[in-house]
Amino acid sequence: MTRVVISNLVKQFGSFRAIDGVSLTIEPGELVVLLGPSGCGKTTTLRCVAGLEDVSGGEIRMGEDVVSSASVALPPEKRAIGMVFQSYAVWPHMSVFENVAFGLRLKGLGRQEITERVERVLALVGLKGFGARDISKLSGGQQQRVALARAIVLEPRVLLFDEPLSNLDAKLREHMRFEIRELQKRLGITSLYVTHDQQEAMVIADRIVLMDSGRIDQIGGPQDIYRRPASRFGAEFVGLANVVTATVGADGRAHCSPTLELACHTEGFRAGDEVDLLMRPEDIEVSDQPISGVNVVESTVARSYFLGNLADLYVNVDNAQWRLQLSPPRLWPEGQKMWLRVRPEDIRLFPRKAA
Ligand SMILES: Nc1ncnc2c1ncn2[C@@H]1O[C@H](COP(=O)(O)OP(=O)(O)O)[C@@H](O)[C@H]1O
Ligand SMILES: [Mg+2]
Repeated sequence: MTRVVISNLVKQFGSFRAIDGVSLTIEPGELVVLLGPSGCGKTTTLRCVAGLEDVSGGEIRMGEDVVSSASVALPPEKRAIGMVFQSYAVWPHMSVFENVAFGLRLKGLGRQEITERVERVLALVGLKGFGARDISKLSGGQQQRVALARAIVLEPRVLLFDEPLSNLDAKLREHMRFEIRELQKRLGITSLYVTHDQQEAMVIADRIVLMDSGRIDQIGGPQDIYRRPASRFGAEFVGLANVVTATVGADGRAHCSPTLELACHTEGFRAGDEVDLLMRPEDIEVSDQPISGVNVVESTVARSYFLGNLADLYVNVDNAQWRLQLSPPRLWPEGQKMWLRVRPEDIRLFPRKAA
């Protein structure tokens, strides 16, 4: 099993710095997900690891070997990597068997070994008995399984995935997340997986690397990333967040407006600090009767939507609009008065960045 160490990776395209000092270790057998919005540098990072891009600075190691640096650029075929992309990149004129066998033939393996390895890998990805099929007649999900089989049949040291499920329909996508994770764990191949889909990242990852504009915002397990976001960016990108601007008061409260103050944990801030105050929709308690206690806020319902398993509510609070999610769902008429309550420990504060 191979450890991948990315140290201070920089990638410039002309004067544009797409990757700006990314450092990251993928432990042997670990599945690390690069998550972030479109254009944040996920694919570029992956392509550097694959050897499809030269690096502008920093170093990438696989096991003991430096594969990328200012002076080293080991070509992709010498890195012992397997890759799976969004476009399946299967060869349409070949059978399933031939698609998977292709790389083994290039290596000059004997006929019997090729047959054994291809059959074994097809069984692993749930395509036992599909070898003779015409690949262009398979569904998208099956084609993606062939692409996966083709990547693992070569027994790579590292598997690289770039949005492999984005072309599949929603149901299949959810199913394939579990399959890929399960297979990766069974094979124990160190893996780097790119997606912009936060739920996919949460399901599939051992650890998530959240990227923002070519840099790492936070590294952590799915629960860390969701429960203890390191930045406003992270809190808003993963899950939903209500954001209220406020000033920290001398009393340790956050002053949002002349008519709204919230008790919260202000450790690490000083009176007068400008902050963004974040609250997850599911952490806001609601009642159509007056309630008492700390942080009770009056509101009126602006809109409410039935989403099946939950109700999505937008309520007017003190000249702003907050979003709430109620499960089990309950719909409220527009204009209905509501009392909200949020616990001080469920409010997170972030320094407000200068605009
Ligand atoms: N070959 C290239 N030439 C110039 N700019 C590029 C090239 N490849 C990527 N970029 C830019 O680098 C940034 C990161 O791209 P990419 O890694 O593809 O993002 P992501 O995969 O996170 O959506 C984007 O602004 C993109 O336009
Ligand atoms: Mg990409």
